Amino acid sequence: PRVIFSGIQPTGIPHLGNYLGALSNWVQLQNTAGPSDELLFSIVGWHALTLPQHPQQLSEARMDMLAVLLAIGIDPRRSIIFHQDDNPDHTELAWIFNCITPMGKLRRMTTWKSRLAASKNQGDDVDVDEAGLNVGLFAYPVLQAADILAYKATHVPVGDDQTQHLELCRVIADQFNRNFKAEQSLFPLPTQLNTPSKRILSLRDPTSKMSKSSPDSSSRILLTDSPSQISQKIRSAVTDSIPGINYDPVNRPGTANLLTILAACNNNEDVGETARRYGGKNHGALKKDLTEAVEEMLKGPRAEYEKLRMERAYLAQLAREGAEKARLKSEVTMREVRKRVGLS
Ligand code: TYM
Repeated sequence: PRVIFSGIQPTGIPHLGNYLGALSNWVQLQNTAGPSDELLFSIVGWHALTLPQHPQQLSEARMDMLAVLLAIGIDPRRSIIFHQDDNPDHTELAWIFNCITPMGKLRRMTTWKSRLAASKNQGDDVDVDEAGLNVGLFAYPVLQAADILAYKATHVPVGDDQTQHLELCRVIADQFNRNFKAEQSLFPLPTQLNTPSKRILSLRDPTSKMSKSSPDSSSRILLTDSPSQISQKIRSAVTDSIPGINYDPVNRPGTANLLTILAACNNNEDVGETARRYGGKNHGALKKDLTEAVEEMLKGPRAEYEKLRMERAYLAQLAREGAEKARLKSEVTMREVRKRVGLS
């Protein structure tokens, strides 16, 4: 039996990258899971706090995210959906993990390194200045490991950008298992699950990934975008001036990205297959079909979301129930953890 766990930050409506790289896979895994598989999906508010958030907006985004997850097909009768910040076991386990995680490992995380680079003064690349960055951001991957291991998760469906965090999670699990040995290792070493579209690129700059934080909002399509927003963003997507269409991610990253999205919309069809159908066509034809395919994929969830987000009492009730179920599971792990480290 598998224990499948994943998380998403409540930092706004998810975009196509989140959806095609991770969320659609959550639904797929749920709908194909065996009877003994367990699934847990968490809205990770504590991770969101590692960057400045407007309290009122965070509070809204936290509830909206629950509505989004339901709207795309996560079923609370089958999967445990909950707010991370409703279960303090995550932070307790994260603290214990902090005490066995080497600083050097965290310094090598690319997310940390890129924040560090961004916060450094220009021309000042010798002096490492961590002064503007908080401890939470540094320890972010440790909390992520705690999220996963609190439930002894075996499988973690995420996008490509989480690979290094998952590697660290296995390092921490292994370190704990060695430090606090008993007849049986406490933690499994979780496996990462990727989709074929594990890295969706920005529509405006196909050298970087589609992200929530890019200042250019036309670089990403949100799950709740209207047909005209979808159409406008795809029309203005950066491609190349090479005639015809082929799949060449190195030389034609923008075109390849559109093909990847279209293949994913077509039930995760092989992208080579998609590209062949456009062999004799141009970007205009590709963009037209992509616009239709994305709208077709998003219209159901969008309508469902608009209904669900109004039902605040129902969402609050679901959140309470989800948190209770999650705690019942993590409690079992935490009793064992406390015993092994000598805190019981
Ligand atoms: P977050 O909230 O940034 O993103 C949620 C999921 O979306 C994926 N993703 C993408 N996939 C493909 N292409 C893209 N352009 C793209 N952008 C984002 C992410 O890989 C992720 O799967 N650290 C996590 C949250 C987290 C977590 C966890 C995940 C906290 N604890 C435990 C798994 C297990 C994050 O920032 O996701």
